[in-house]
Amino acid sequence: MLLRRIAPALVGLALVGWAIVALAQDAPPRGRAPRVVGFRDPIVPTARVTFNRDVAPILQARCQSCHHDGGIAPFPLVTYADAYAHKGSMVVSTQNRTMPPWRVDSACTDFQDDPSLTPAEIATFSDWFDLGAVAGDPKDLPPPLTFSDGWQLGQPDKVLTMSAPMTPDFSRGDVYRCFVMPTGLADDRWVNAVEVSPGVGKMVHHVLLFVDTTGESESLDAADPGPGYSCFGGPGFTLQNALGGWVPGSVPSRLPDGIGLRLPKNSRVVMQVHYSALSGVSAPDVTSVALHYSTKPIRQELRILPLINQSFIIPAGAKDQVVTASVPIVPIPVHVLSITPHMHLLGRTMHVGTTLPNGSQKCLVDVPDWSFHWQRQYNFREPLAIPAGSRLDLVAHYDNSEENPQNVSHPPREVRWGENTTDEMCIAFLAFTIDGENLLAPAGATPMAKRQKFDPFWEVDWKPVPPPAPFEVPQHWNHH
Ligand code: HEC
Repeated sequence: MLLRRIAPALVGLALVGWAIVALAQDAPPRGRAPRVVGFRDPIVPTARVTFNRDVAPILQARCQSCHHDGGIAPFPLVTYADAYAHKGSMVVSTQNRTMPPWRVDSACTDFQDDPSLTPAEIATFSDWFDLGAVAGDPKDLPPPLTFSDGWQLGQPDKVLTMSAPMTPDFSRGDVYRCFVMPTGLADDRWVNAVEVSPGVGKMVHHVLLFVDTTGESESLDAADPGPGYSCFGGPGFTLQNALGGWVPGSVPSRLPDGIGLRLPKNSRVVMQVHYSALSGVSAPDVTSVALHYSTKPIRQELRILPLINQSFIIPAGAKDQVVTASVPIVPIPVHVLSITPHMHLLGRTMHVGTTLPNGSQKCLVDVPDWSFHWQRQYNFREPLAIPAGSRLDLVAHYDNSEENPQNVSHPPREVRWGENTTDEMCIAFLAFTIDGENLLAPAGATPMAKRQKFDPFWEVDWKPVPPPAPFEVPQHWNHH
């Protein structure tokens, strides 16, 4: 009886002891896969968790979009040998949820493409490790994925690309470059989907797309030698509109029927590319953007509301500076389709929420640990209804102290709004539609339904507005 109780504990101890040794010797096997057979027997029942059956499917679904040859990640996680070489760090990075990268709290909102692993999937990595990291039965291995360079959404209507290949100079770290791509459109067009094709996948860390209707971007380009112009946080001109962007692992999607993104005639699409110095290569890159025009009639225009504060001051050395932005009263009912948080290097957290007219609160996005290097557009699984009279609030925290490893100023200096690495931004872009808008309404319909340029949000004074009533930041927004 006593023995029966002790035995499992001994087995556990033996496994833990082995695990520590394995972690220390986490070296890539050469040539043939390592012999790990001994660990199956006699303690471990034959291959309870194997690479072929349990680990490979998770790697395919959640990791290989980046961890394949030519992907953005520094090493592939495709074969058994790949996985074996990184078995220890896979356990650590999945348990602390740094991999797969997903910088928002899934408990706040249900987003499309949320790659977060389930607790069972996280346990699979550690169980596989603990049970000897065996390959398992070759018959269990799913067929390998292929990573094509073709357009995922099919043949586009128009492809925009850089005027010349860009070879980034990484001697001073990461490179942020804006490329001006004229659309040459004679008329306004409705865009249904945008797909980005990164040139040198290993180097391209993220891409953001902006629309310039005034030509400001062309002057910036002319003033900077080489293809495009240097741009860090934003495109360097007054934003009219944005077309979304791309990060490794993001899946291009189409807008719902009846909703379109307006691309004005003669506009330029300005593509900001972040080239990562970490990639260890510098090669000529040509990144392109495919536009798919809407084939269905458009009833509602997709609009962008920047929930923004441009007049903050972050004192030198401030460890936890709070910056807020609000729309005190949303004037008309809208639906929000996506949200794109944006700060620079000192940003630590960002929370955006809405208070409905009945007083209840909804979380729109919660970024508990901001990283400038992993920013993206988050699409709500279902468009989020925001009734008229709701309030929108953004609360961001910044760390301008010496202790912040991201701080590029030594000693820290006072930081305000600006485009440079040493400046900051505080924005959440909300892509939304206006419920009452019907661009298909017959002539003579209510002006409200028909009015195409109806943009009440632009009439709001974006300087911080004193809240009409004291706004209580919910406790859980402060877990800085
Ligand atoms: C969106 C792209 C992407 C996805 C998806 C992704 N990774 Fe990564 N991974 C990276 C990049 C890039 C790095 C290099 C470090 C960095 O930039 O954060 C990395 C680094 C790692 C490391 C090294 C971490 C360290 O501490 O050195 C491990 C291990 C890892 N990834 C495992 C995984 C696993 C397991 C998955 C799936 C469950 C996964 N990754 C999904 C992009 C990705």
